[in-house]
Amino acid sequence: MNLYEKYLLPILVNSACKVSPKMKQRKKVIPLAHGRVLEIGVGSGLNLPFYNTDKVDEIIGIDPSEEMWSKNNFNPSKFHFEFIKTGAESLPFENNFFDCVVSTYSLCTIPDYNSAMEEIRRVISTNGIFIFCEHGKAPNRKVERWQNRIDPIWSTFGGGCHINRDIPKIITNNGFKMDQMDQMFIPGWKIASYEYWGTAKTY
Ligand SMILES: C[S@@+](CC[C@H](N)C(=O)[O-])C[C@H]1O[C@@H](n2cnc3c(N)ncnc32)[C@H](O)[C@@H]1O
Repeated sequence: MNLYEKYLLPILVNSACKVSPKMKQRKKVIPLAHGRVLEIGVGSGLNLPFYNTDKVDEIIGIDPSEEMWSKNNFNPSKFHFEFIKTGAESLPFENNFFDCVVSTYSLCTIPDYNSAMEEIRRVISTNGIFIFCEHGKAPNRKVERWQNRIDPIWSTFGGGCHINRDIPKIITNNGFKMDQMDQMFIPGWKIASYEYWGTAKTY
């Protein structure tokens, strides 16, 4: 890890994740979580204030970057929280362990997203829900072409974040069916602001 990745990148990514349109998106999905929750790519814990403490018993946040987690402002509150340093491609939990798995703005960055989804499917209980809010491939051909052009530079300086991933396909190709999904451009740069959010279940 170079100096840029260790010191500057966590500050830049954290600031980009904190913008008000993204904070509004978090509010739409995070209160749906209940029971024992796994948050993948928890970053600096920006979702933690939005959990419904009456519904959540415990949250485990995983992320390979301790630098990102070190930017958190988390105050221990009504639920038990634990941070574990690991990637989502290999999760240190038993099968069917979680009622909910949450991913916000992480499927863009996880290098092997298919293995991550396989792991999420393994650790989520039979009736559990996968709650997501992600940016990805835009439906508009012109924007999509720009996403494909810019993506190599974006991912190099953005800590591996890709702007052109097909989020619904990543979810449904990996053993989940959508319960409900919304999508739209949120305010911001068009190439990085087409968002998909909702819930999915295993089948
Ligand atoms: C754009 S940030 C989003 C952080 C947080 N989910 C949020 O909503 O603010 C992407 C996160 O994915 C994490 N990440 C990178 N590779 C990962 C992996 N293999 N498994 C899980 N998370 C990963 C990064 O460290 C970073 O914290």
